[in-house]
Amino acid sequence: MDLFNFIKSNIDILNVIGEYTSLKKTGSLYWKGRCPFHHEKTPSFTVSPNKNIFYCFGCHATGDVINFIEKIEHLSALEASQHLAQRYNLELPKNLQAHTGSHTQKTYYQLCYAVASWFNTMLLKNHIAMLYLQKRKIQPSTIAHFMLGLFPNGNHNIQLLINHISSQGFSSNELIDAHILLRGKQGLYSPFENRIIFPIKDALGQICGFGGRVFITNDTRPKYYNSMDSSYFKKGKILYGLDSAKHEIQKNQISIVVEGYMDCIALWQYGLKYTVATLGTACSQEHLQQLTKHTQTIYLLYDADKAGQQAMLRLTAFCWQLDLELKVITIPTGQDPASMLESAINIQPYIDKAEDIFNFFVQIKSKTFQQASMKQKMEILHELLSIIAQINNNLKQNILLMKASESLQIPLEILKNEYTSLYKVKEKTTLETKNNKQASTPKTQLEEQILAVLAYDHHVLTEKHELLLSICLSEQGKLIVQNILKHRKEHEGFCNHTIEEMITTEQGIFIRSIMFLLQDGDPKQVFQNLLLQLQKNYWKLITSNIKMKIMLAKKNHNILEVQTLLSLFEQIKLEIYKNGSL
Ligand code: CTP
Ligand code: MN
Repeated sequence: MDLFNFIKSNIDILNVIGEYTSLKKTGSLYWKGRCPFHHEKTPSFTVSPNKNIFYCFGCHATGDVINFIEKIEHLSALEASQHLAQRYNLELPKNLQAHTGSHTQKTYYQLCYAVASWFNTMLLKNHIAMLYLQKRKIQPSTIAHFMLGLFPNGNHNIQLLINHISSQGFSSNELIDAHILLRGKQGLYSPFENRIIFPIKDALGQICGFGGRVFITNDTRPKYYNSMDSSYFKKGKILYGLDSAKHEIQKNQISIVVEGYMDCIALWQYGLKYTVATLGTACSQEHLQQLTKHTQTIYLLYDADKAGQQAMLRLTAFCWQLDLELKVITIPTGQDPASMLESAINIQPYIDKAEDIFNFFVQIKSKTFQQASMKQKMEILHELLSIIAQINNNLKQNILLMKASESLQIPLEILKNEYTSLYKVKEKTTLETKNNKQASTPKTQLEEQILAVLAYDHHVLTEKHELLLSICLSEQGKLIVQNILKHRKEHEGFCNHTIEEMITTEQGIFIRSIMFLLQDGDPKQVFQNLLLQLQKNYWKLITSNIKMKIMLAKKNHNILEVQTLLSLFEQIKLEIYKNGSL
């Protein structure tokens, strides 16, 4: 067995996917939930634990558990398998262990983990650092959850760190490569020394870097020092806390994005466990995109008078493209979430008053609007209208136009006229092309259901069904049936292959797309009922087809064929009579 098959057969696909979207059992065979790959309100994402695959009726994403992780975590198949093995503590057989691949990559994370756990031990032993955190109202359980640490000052401690990681098979060179230690004139030192350490995990939960905050009163160095950017650690992309927050985000269908480590930690401790932080950079589209895997409702809790405000404004347009509900929480100037909670100010009312990002946008713009020159006014207006044009909901567009008209004090009529002349024509044409596209895939539901049973258990199909199906199914359906029967013949009737091994890749994709239509019940019985329905629906086609075949067989003096066809014809007729009228 290769690594991929080992992973697939040892990991429960429901567990894995359940981490990204909540699944509910529907019927006896499938589980359903909202698709983690595209935004939707009604669930069309289906998982079959028997078949170990998923399929989304909305965006047609499909595959097995490894494909799922590849797609959602943007990993290669091998990386996805490694991740699954690690995450679910799979003990790999010896012969597969070589596959766990890229040695350096694995050790980098392990090194970071070893370092973080040493920092953590050092913190718990250090009275002054603990006192600092205590003053900032950070509880011991919070320290443990975020694995906070301390890099104590001095050569002695550097040596202790090296000793610690040496005992785990690492060398000081690796600490230098990871930029945790630097080589100076007087030997090794670290910019993290004398700082409270925040280990930073990537979305897969691997420690990939560190942030360090000064905590001694007279320390004049910059407040934070962070790991340098590398292929493991990309400051502009990472969301601090996401690894542990993602379940809560999914469960509550909301996330809060804050600016700093301390804010994230403080809100987590306060109970808002779906909070994540950007690492000092403004929240970007990339950050939001990561969150949209888990929720469509995101609250931004940024300092309202910083550059962050500009960044939030840029996100306004973007959020509609992703169908995101983006809200802005405004807190008193001079405060941040951590400082508010430290001074026991209730933050909830501010969260409750969060504003839709568009309102926020219009408000900010209208502040400058009144004083602006005519040219600037036109620019602001067009910016607003271009944002409104990106919403694909007429009612919402009108509401926003009204809001803009109120805030900017421009008559609604004028605003609407301008909007219509700029955007309405374009919109209509895009809508028309969309509708045309949808009309071009006709298929009968009955056929899809028949193929769905075959996908589930192809053994319900026997040769005696071939004729009937070859008359009634579409070209694609016929080919699938033929392939199954051909494959069986080639294996002399004895084969336990899955249907996907019997058909072409394209047919496989098609089969996956319909197999979730399978009705509940015993597959054999379901198949019989569907065939009966098929016979009823296509009775005329069947009779004329069989009659023609009989004629041909007679012409060729093929008595045996004539007899078979006749008895088939009788059989079909009988079955239909038996089960009700024609
Ligand atoms: N930051 C940084 N370097 C600095 C200052 C800030 O990298 N010199 C980043 C850190 O990721 C920090 C975030 O910007 O968490 C927000 O900065 P700030 O609000 O100043 O830090 P807090 O995390 O809120 O820390 P504290 O509350 O302890 O001041
Ligand atoms: Mn802060």
